[in-house]
Amino acid sequence: MKTFFIKVFGCQMNEYDSLKVKSILESLNLKEVKDPYQADIILVDTCTVREKPENKALSFLGQFRKLKKEKNLILGIFGCVPQRIGKKIYEEMPYVDIVIGTFNYYLLPYYLEKVKKGKRVFEIWNNYKEEENKVSFYPSPPKGPISYITIQIGCNRFCSYCIVPFVRGRERSKPISLILKEIDKTLEKYPFIKEIQLLGQNIDFYKCPETKISFENALENISNYVLKKGIKRVRFVTSHPAGFSKKLIDTLYNLKEIVMPYVHLPPQSGSNKILKLMKRGYTKEEYLEKVFYLKEKIKDVSISGDFIVGFPGETEKDFEETLSLVEKVRYDQGFVFAYNPRPYTYAATFLKDNVFKEEKINRLQVLNSLISKIGYEKNKAFVGKETPVLITKIEKQDQKYLYEGRNPQNKIVIFESEKKIDFDIYKVKIKEAYPYYLKGVLNV
Ligand code: SAM
Ligand code: SF4
Ligand code: F3S
Repeated sequence: MKTFFIKVFGCQMNEYDSLKVKSILESLNLKEVKDPYQADIILVDTCTVREKPENKALSFLGQFRKLKKEKNLILGIFGCVPQRIGKKIYEEMPYVDIVIGTFNYYLLPYYLEKVKKGKRVFEIWNNYKEEENKVSFYPSPPKGPISYITIQIGCNRFCSYCIVPFVRGRERSKPISLILKEIDKTLEKYPFIKEIQLLGQNIDFYKCPETKISFENALENISNYVLKKGIKRVRFVTSHPAGFSKKLIDTLYNLKEIVMPYVHLPPQSGSNKILKLMKRGYTKEEYLEKVFYLKEKIKDVSISGDFIVGFPGETEKDFEETLSLVEKVRYDQGFVFAYNPRPYTYAATFLKDNVFKEEKINRLQVLNSLISKIGYEKNKAFVGKETPVLITKIEKQDQKYLYEGRNPQNKIVIFESEKKIDFDIYKVKIKEAYPYYLKGVLNV
């Protein structure tokens, strides 16, 4: 049996696409392997949001050039990097057989046939076709007990620093009927799934193209549907602060039996001047008002966010406003990035990248240490308490098992036990807290 290996860089949208590619290739009777050197087909799913992941993906692919001379190997690249520079890759990396973008990976079986006939494939589309939704008819292979379902793709917001709208195309939502079918198809093949994670670039802007229902209603429909099918948890990412409504917060409250108390709500900055230059579409005050309402309604909610430091024109004072926002929100987790000018974007074209590299790194470290200090304090509040953990990883070690999972607040919880348990939810008593995880014992 022929084998394949997929390497994924980038966000959860890519994770989902790669899992779909896995499903498509398995339907061709190909088998996934964990070691790329054992594979007959190596595919790399790529990210161009910053220069770093882009370079990482290209050098990952480049390392197989030699191997290709030694054995019959198909090399392919897809996703956001070739969507941007596919022609360059096709011309400068002649050992790569397949160069496709973000809109057409569902045609991989057809492209693989072409390669088998001795052709190289270079196909970058500049827009999506409605038939991209065909991927919904393939089950979504889970990671452990969690299955990811993309319900909204692309972005229309054009934040001034961001390349995503240029490589992922216009914002579009999947019909609710199709989402439910995709879930059915997935649960049929993987009946052990316990959690569904709904994905969207800005999921709160979801709008069903058929029924016109909003994200609040879609979340309600999907949650009630999967609850009946035995699913225990639902999560969703990413929420955009401009679309994150009080109605959505009320919906989360009403669905708290199944929708977990965790929201990823990236502010990017705490300075109104910078938020305006970023074209984010909200002020710090509007952001905070939503966060405070969220915390008031859902007392045990945990919140995470993305931050960009060193955006053009960001002064020390602007940066301090970001620190002050972090103190007010008290994030459980944060992802901090140094501003990196990206082609096509407004900021790269019209604003001067005028914060020195050393200063960006300094701000990145200061913000990261504040976020982890607060995260650590919040983690310590779990010590001595019992928390329900969905097991996501199991490792056997000598006479015992090492377990890793997530609690409702999306905290990583680890524990050891001699008992063999499955990918399910168990009560764990927390004994120790660390900045990025909790350690406990199984409470049975
Ligand atoms: N749609 C989400 C939102 O609006 O919050 C974010 C999606 S973006 C793919 C992921 C993160 O990458 C952003 O939240 C931002 O912090 C970071 N990012 C995007 N463009 C960047 C750039 N040019 N430089 C540094 N970080 C960037
Ligand atoms: Fe990028 Fe802004 Fe769209 Fe998020 S909302 S993907 S940051 S353009
Ligand atoms: Fe990267 Fe593309 Fe996601 S650029 S962040 S993989 S949408």
